Amino acid sequence: MRLPLLSLLPLAAAKTILPPQEPHHIFSNPSEQTAFKIPTSYESAILARRILHLTPLGTLSTIFPSSSQHASSSSLEQRPTGLDGIPIGLMDYIADCESTGNPTILAINIATSFKNVASGSNISLSLQWTPPYPPSSRISLFSSANPSQYSAANLPRFSLLGYLEPIPEEEVEANDIGSCFVESHKDAKYWLPGNKIHASEWVRLVVREVYWIGGFGDRAYIGWIPVEDWRNVSKAEWKGVRLPGEKKGWREWGAEVLGGWEL
Ligand SMILES: *[C@@H]1O[C@H](CO)[C@@H](O)[C@H](O)[C@H]1NC(C)=O
Ligand SMILES: *[C@@H]1O[C@H](CO)[C@@H](O)[C@H](O)[C@H]1NC(C)=O
Repeated sequence: MRLPLLSLLPLAAAKTILPPQEPHHIFSNPSEQTAFKIPTSYESAILARRILHLTPLGTLSTIFPSSSQHASSSSLEQRPTGLDGIPIGLMDYIADCESTGNPTILAINIATSFKNVASGSNISLSLQWTPPYPPSSRISLFSSANPSQYSAANLPRFSLLGYLEPIPEEEVEANDIGSCFVESHKDAKYWLPGNKIHASEWVRLVVREVYWIGGFGDRAYIGWIPVEDWRNVSKAEWKGVRLPGEKKGWREWGAEVLGGWEL
């Protein structure tokens, strides 16, 4: 005899929020009061700094230079025509090895992102929070769906906008940047500066602007985070908060609150 599908699901996965808290503003903060207290940009900055610390991969976006200012016209690269000014986003390894909120990156000179930077492009790093656990309390829409699916639109993501600068040798040594980076990325030991395969160097993304989407706009902050707030977040602050799904048992339609994410 076939069992009803529901009885095969873990008990917790069948729970839904009553009444369901449907989002009323998805991509912006409403001007009127909502059922939730929308966090301040500083509270969001704390969550963002925690995401930076816990997330080893991000997307670097740069812009192709005009063909005339191409830094390496003599290089082997054959690039299609018509790319001038077009943005390209590519995944790369990142780490949080300085206390300033400027991400640490190992720039490989021949990689497209860093060639564009060498030709004068600014850069942005886009990060998203991916919960390691599925939610245990579901919105009714998804409650019978694959438990590994969740509403990613209600989860934090953000972009750090700025430029790259080399990390001076003294600071690489003083802050032990190499060990910090390899702790997150064991394989990167093969392309550390001085390796025999590719020329590489330590750089930091100097953050100038931060754009944050914390989740649905009626319960999370959506907008620019002042860069002074971003830089000012202390280690104790980002260590003291929790993100949705860091631990088992979180509510899919939860909200950002002071002290992290309500569970
Ligand atoms: C990089 O950003 C700065 C600051 O916004 C701007 O002044 C500069 O023109 C940008 N560089 C390029 C190549 O677009
Ligand atoms: C940064 O933090 C320090 C110490 O907590 C505080 O005195 C200062 O006012 C803060 N700066 C900004 C711009 O928030």
